[in-house]
Amino acid sequence: MKRLLLFILPILIIVAIGFTVFGIMQIRFTQDKLMDDLQKKAKAVDESLDFSARAILLNNDLKSANRLVESFQKRERLQGCVIYDKEGKVLAITERFSDWKEKEKSYLKDILANKAPRGALENFKDYSVYSYIIPVIDDENTILGMVEVIYDTSYVFTTLTALWERLSVSLITLLVLIVLIMLLIQRQIFTLPVVRLTEWFQHFQKGETEAAHPIKGKDELGKLANEVEQVALSLRIARKVVSEKATERIKKDELWTESKLRDLIHARLGENALFVVSNREPYMHVIDDITGQPKCIRPASGVVTAIHPIMSACGGTWIAHGSGNADRKFVNSKDKLGVPPEDNRYILKRVWLSKEEEEGYYYGFANEGLWPLCHMTHTRPVFREADWQMYKKVNQKFADSVLAELPTKNPFLFIQDYHFTLLAKMIKEKRPDARIALFWHIPWPNPEVFSTCPYHKQILEGMLACDLIGFHVQSHCNNFLETSNRLLESRVDTEKFSIVRFEKETFVRAFPISVDGYLDQNKQSPDLLREIDRIKKEFELEGKIVAIGVDRIDYTKGLVERLLAVDRFIEKNPQYKNKFVFIQLAAPSRTHIKQYHDLMNEIDEVVEKKNWKYSEGEWRPIIYLKRHFSPEEIKPYYSLADICIVSSLHDGMNLVAKEYVASKTDFNGVLVLSRFTGAARELTDSVLINPYAIEEFSDAIKSAVEMPREEKKKRMENMRKIVSENNVYRWAGNIITELTALKKS
Ligand code: G6P
Repeated sequence: MKRLLLFILPILIIVAIGFTVFGIMQIRFTQDKLMDDLQKKAKAVDESLDFSARAILLNNDLKSANRLVESFQKRERLQGCVIYDKEGKVLAITERFSDWKEKEKSYLKDILANKAPRGALENFKDYSVYSYIIPVIDDENTILGMVEVIYDTSYVFTTLTALWERLSVSLITLLVLIVLIMLLIQRQIFTLPVVRLTEWFQHFQKGETEAAHPIKGKDELGKLANEVEQVALSLRIARKVVSEKATERIKKDELWTESKLRDLIHARLGENALFVVSNREPYMHVIDDITGQPKCIRPASGVVTAIHPIMSACGGTWIAHGSGNADRKFVNSKDKLGVPPEDNRYILKRVWLSKEEEEGYYYGFANEGLWPLCHMTHTRPVFREADWQMYKKVNQKFADSVLAELPTKNPFLFIQDYHFTLLAKMIKEKRPDARIALFWHIPWPNPEVFSTCPYHKQILEGMLACDLIGFHVQSHCNNFLETSNRLLESRVDTEKFSIVRFEKETFVRAFPISVDGYLDQNKQSPDLLREIDRIKKEFELEGKIVAIGVDRIDYTKGLVERLLAVDRFIEKNPQYKNKFVFIQLAAPSRTHIKQYHDLMNEIDEVVEKKNWKYSEGEWRPIIYLKRHFSPEEIKPYYSLADICIVSSLHDGMNLVAKEYVASKTDFNGVLVLSRFTGAARELTDSVLINPYAIEEFSDAIKSAVEMPREEKKKRMENMRKIVSENNVYRWAGNIITELTALKKS
């Protein structure tokens, strides 16, 4: 529109100026002509009076003089006539114009002296008149008097005004016509072809790659369209070749790596990209409290930890809530950006939510309702009708955003977590051909617990629109099958591990999530060693046994229990005073929710109390670092820690446990791990604990502290093997293999 305006505006200005100049000339000409006519008329009338006036003035015949001037009383446009004597005094004047007597007429003297006629425009009261005077002269050239006729000139101005009006209307009509014609021309020769090309390109983007472009002309646009078509063709061929080569490579049975996953995705998804939806985005732009400048952070989230390496390996589009306060500054016109910011590997599309939507959907229904419902931590779930309505609305908003992106053929969508139980159904309503997998990153409760949710039926119905639902462990799968069986009219097939409802079959599988498992990449670089050194100095850790915890501040993580167990350990083993330090890295989370807020205060209090209890000189048993830590910042803590404590009261998997194992390149570390995490099923060489049993827990810390080096090494070796084999690429590979296999059946 701006460009169009830039194009049309100069034309309009030139036309308007030209037309105005022409109008002014036209007006001038008309005005001159009218005045000329007036003058001629006045002169003719005056001259016709000359003879009678001479007789009147010679005889001083006042009666005839009055009769003469009164004969003008009814003439249109001619206002009146005046007869003056040779002194310039009024002898007779037409009655309707008798006020003219009062006007100061300096010009009379000149006429008497020069004996020459005079015609001029004169202002009188609030109007303008035309006066024409001739001197009346006898045969001896002696002046007898003067005769003046006065014309009303208002009709000249009326005529000129009417002319102005006609010219203005013509100018406006002309300008409007020019704009309309320009719009039409630009639409025909520019907009329409570009629109057609854009539509064609959008189809191409969505996978309809066969059709030829619709621009047939040989002009510049046609050339551009041909070039775009060549790029499209090369892309199509390249994708096919990649897909064939990838099929060859994945046949080899080797450890899962990002390139193997990339091959699998190319082979299975062909030309289609992978679409991921989650609530939490992998990169958030936030305003730094200290500098006031925007910065990019990686949020603390298991979903982000797991999905980011997959998307980095395979590309695709990740659709998530744009929750950072500077997020809007970094997206393009379609709310997208390439991430990671320094090395764009995939597309992040941000969905914007209002405060009310975030409150109801995220804080309310997802995190005050479903989160406590699914975690056995004895925190009561809260289900508010208004939150549920907002949850539905936001699911629909995400569905619309996803639908706008899906390719026309065989789209694959991978939904994350409890925020989107309704999404698959909403998408299938419009795109029944879409293949959809949902991964549930948290535990699934038993049917009795789940039935307490007033919306359990709609949630299950929404989820069963998926083709595949994944959980971390088999017991969560079993709980889900049982829940569907009991709470919904459906048929559970225990052979195939699927649920059939209205002829739609949904497969349920356990896929234990993991980390990237490149265990060697964590080898201690000079930078890392420097950072370890710095931390050791800052917190005086040299020569001490260091245990760490890395968590969001969440009531499911057993943070208070952990602090009590550390306290009990020192209480029972005072020989470790001054020798043992527990560092807790704690990222504040969901702080608008009361339970989270209260928990933060409770932890602050416990830390303060326990540190006070043991304070002797500089030593404090607990170092509590409450802020967001980036993955790079966490690395040195993992490396320097002799022990990592994961004490979740209930956890779907817990990736901190696996990250710690992956980072222990020197095998010199012990993992103390809650039995109630998914990770405990795989990492059986950890020291397993019941976080509720503080005595047992504190003894477990002791055994970790005192574990012989050889045993530590053996256990760590075993766990590292498990993490490296069952890495996140394998996790994603298995899900995609299952999902694409379903497509063929
Ligand atoms: C859990 C959930 C994730 C969530 C993460 C962080 O791991 O399964 O979906 O992203 O917690 O929580 P937040 O609410 O900050 O995203």
